[in-house]
Amino acid sequence: MAHIIAVANQKGGVGKTTTAVNLAASLAHLEQRVLLIDMDPQGNATMGSGVQKNDLLYSVTDVLLGEAPIETALMQTEVGYSVLGANRDLAGVELAIAEQEKREFILKNALQAVSHQFDYIIVDCAPSLSLITVNAMTAVDGVIIPMQCEYYALEGLADLTQTIDRIQEGLNPNLSIIGVLRTMYDGRNALTRDVSAELQEYFGSKLYNTFIPRNVRLAEAPAHGVPVLYFEKRSKGAKAYIELAQEIIQKNKG
Ligand SMILES: Nc1ncnc2c1ncn2[C@@H]1O[C@H](COP(=O)(O)OP(=O)(O)OP(=O)(O)O)[C@@H](O)[C@H]1O
Ligand SMILES: [Mg+2]
Repeated sequence: MAHIIAVANQKGGVGKTTTAVNLAASLAHLEQRVLLIDMDPQGNATMGSGVQKNDLLYSVTDVLLGEAPIETALMQTEVGYSVLGANRDLAGVELAIAEQEKREFILKNALQAVSHQFDYIIVDCAPSLSLITVNAMTAVDGVIIPMQCEYYALEGLADLTQTIDRIQEGLNPNLSIIGVLRTMYDGRNALTRDVSAELQEYFGSKLYNTFIPRNVRLAEAPAHGVPVLYFEKRSKGAKAYIELAQEIIQKNKG
């Protein structure tokens, strides 16, 4: 069975999509069978994987609305993993499913049909704690929380951990925080080091040893529709995400 992981933080711009895309590519590079699911109407993970979000025949929206079986909506990419894409249509799903029975379990139920085909399923969440994000968290085994080591990083963390606890109690008893990832890390900056120390204290062994440095190649790659491994594989960013993938695979073995 696949390890199913959401990349979530309701704070915007902390590196969720960069992490989801580059972790998917790095796990695939390490010979894992990977599916990346875009659960954000911005469609950034879709585009960052070289899939045109506005040309999708089927998207995650169709799967959530029960209009296409998940098998039909999965796409092969040229970057080593499969994608279930998203675009702005996803924004309308929230209302459409709001009154539905078992509305939190739609993604979970859909995944049952394909999870045996993969070693890892990575779900990129939007910066919100909406019903769409709740669907993601109900479907996964755990959450990776990317955090930027800046002054406001810890703000909002209580909301996120409360949401995770609530979903764990009511909807998904397996759910846990599997790891906290420092993104856009700049070790020369004293504030970064202070916040990093705070994260270490708060999360202990859940804080990944790997951190992702601020690296311009990571920011440039999406414009080319590829993960950084396919753009500049010798970059610090590419190496860091490979190291993260190795750390995750290693933790799953132990
Ligand atoms: N390690 C990094 N070094 C340099 N730039 C980065 C790094 N990680 C992310 N970025 C850039 O920061 C911006 C925000 O990153 P990203 O889109 O991954 O965040 P997000 O959490 O998915 O945002 P949103 O909440 O809008 O979904 C993007 O322009 C991205 O290219
Ligand atoms: Mg994003």
